Amino acid sequence: MKKIILSGMRPTGKLHLGHLVGALANWTKLQNEYDCFFMVADWHALMSEYENSGNLKANMLDNIIDWLSCGIDPGKSTIFVQSQVPEHLELYFILSLVTPLGLLERCPTYKEQLRELTNRDLSTYAFLGYPVLQAADILLYKADAVPVGEDQLPHLELTRQIVRKFNHLYKTDCFPEPKALLTETTRLLGLDGRKMSKSYDNYIGLSEEPEIIRKKVQNMITDAQRIRLSDPGHPHKCNVFSYYAIFFPELKQEAEHRCVKSLIGCTVCKKEFADKIIGLLAPIQEKRRVLLKDKKHIQDILSAGRLKASSFAKKTISEVRSLLKL
Ligand code: TRP
Repeated sequence: MKKIILSGMRPTGKLHLGHLVGALANWTKLQNEYDCFFMVADWHALMSEYENSGNLKANMLDNIIDWLSCGIDPGKSTIFVQSQVPEHLELYFILSLVTPLGLLERCPTYKEQLRELTNRDLSTYAFLGYPVLQAADILLYKADAVPVGEDQLPHLELTRQIVRKFNHLYKTDCFPEPKALLTETTRLLGLDGRKMSKSYDNYIGLSEEPEIIRKKVQNMITDAQRIRLSDPGHPHKCNVFSYYAIFFPELKQEAEHRCVKSLIGCTVCKKEFADKIIGLLAPIQEKRRVLLKDKKHIQDILSAGRLKASSFAKKTISEVRSLLKL
């Protein structure tokens, strides 16, 4: 039997190149080796967006279309929406029974978000429990592994602690301890050199028009020490070059050579680079255009995903109920 993978994404906005290298490229590979569950975590999104939840549904469909366009295959993977499988909430409650409050209060992501996201009121009961719902997502499908970025490691560690406590208390081996599958790619920097993120407005969207991509790339920061065309460039200090290494490794050497030897200026280099990114996104955007015309197809994929996820989830819940003698 294949091992099980579960991962999720919150539908908080449009997807960008950071999602492609950080998650989707990896998910697309994993679906050939594992039994994969890919979930839209709308309840998790709600925990921070509850004051303004009107966009979640549109984001959700938009994100799923991008998943499919990037190669997530509903024939191989189960694609579903968290809120369509209410068992997530039941397990979340049961796990919360055994989750020590201190673990949640000390969770680094919790403390950081409270500090950083000052434009929302996150001092709520639900937000504190964010990692417990994530543990429920993972354990409901008894996932062996969870592909995540580094920022999610504390949530996985918390999940493992909950598993140990639950299994010990109810004398069971019902839940396996899930492993983190860290994404290998180096972190993709945003256009301004910080982490690529919607909230920093420093991203290239997967569905962005070529003209917008050209403009954004022209504004990318390159080597600040290179003033005249004849000055030799320092590619390892240049953001555009860091993208070459990730997206076009076969062109990396040539790009480096031309920069160091002053054979090309930054403006022309960025123009060429923009064309390459536009070319990379073209087949994804073409698939997207086709999918956008067939909403029924998307609904069918989600219905099938819901059915498969539900049947798994129901089995786990009935096991858990009997362990608790309910
Ligand atoms: N917390 C994850 C994030 O923000 C999203 C998520 C929700 C998730 N449930 C999950 C990821 C379960 C992995 C497994 O990226």
